Amino acid sequence: MPLSFYAHRLLPLAMDFVLTRPYYNDQRRTSMRAAAGRALEIGFGVGASVEIYATDTTVRELWAVDPNPGMLRRALPRVRRSALRIHLLRGTAEALPFPDAAFDSVISNWTLCSLSDPGSALAEMRRVLRADGRFLFLEHGLAPNPRLARRQRWLTPLQRRLAGGCRLDLDIGAAIRAAGFRIETIEHYDAGRGPKTLRQMFRGVARP
Ligand SMILES: C[S@@+](CC[C@H](N)C(=O)[O-])C[C@H]1O[C@@H](n2cnc3c(N)ncnc32)[C@H](O)[C@@H]1O
Repeated sequence: MPLSFYAHRLLPLAMDFVLTRPYYNDQRRTSMRAAAGRALEIGFGVGASVEIYATDTTVRELWAVDPNPGMLRRALPRVRRSALRIHLLRGTAEALPFPDAAFDSVISNWTLCSLSDPGSALAEMRRVLRADGRFLFLEHGLAPNPRLARRQRWLTPLQRRLAGGCRLDLDIGAAIRAAGFRIETIEHYDAGRGPKTLRQMFRGVARP
């Protein structure tokens, strides 16, 4: 199967089917509550978070970035239905086309795992945040339990091939700190559904 058919058609279809379910939206709602003002979401996917901005946050303008045109195509009808001012942009978190300190909030939901270079992406997110801004993250990552962490490391090469580059073994707290953020809150929980290696969630707030 050609890579582009998988990446641009099948993957967005699967994301639209899976990531728009209440199980995921309930988790997003808790994590995104503090989003405010001018916001940037990286790895926007099919736009599953659009409704939440309108109902649960005080965001007044959203910039939404994703490199995959297949995702953006699926996000478009949700964006058009929303009353919020949303700018959809094809691009990567590693090279954000915004000046320094342009945003009050940066949001990442289940995206750090898919980045080939999470360090430079996090540095970019920090650069575009205002000094008093917030980075709101909701990510799956490396479990604190060493046995489970070993299994995640072992399975990551296979997972990356099957799920658009998604890795199971990213240490979320360490990656965010290494980019110069100060973590204000970080909560680890087992989301309770699906493989144990994939449901180790990290939700929190970091300051630039
Ligand atoms: C697992 S999906 C999550 C989508 C969305 N955040 C959600 O909650 O439904 C990961 C997303 O990250 C995007 N992505 C992959 N590489 C990226 C990059 N370098 N910069 C920004 N987004 C990227 C993918 O195209 C995909 O839409």
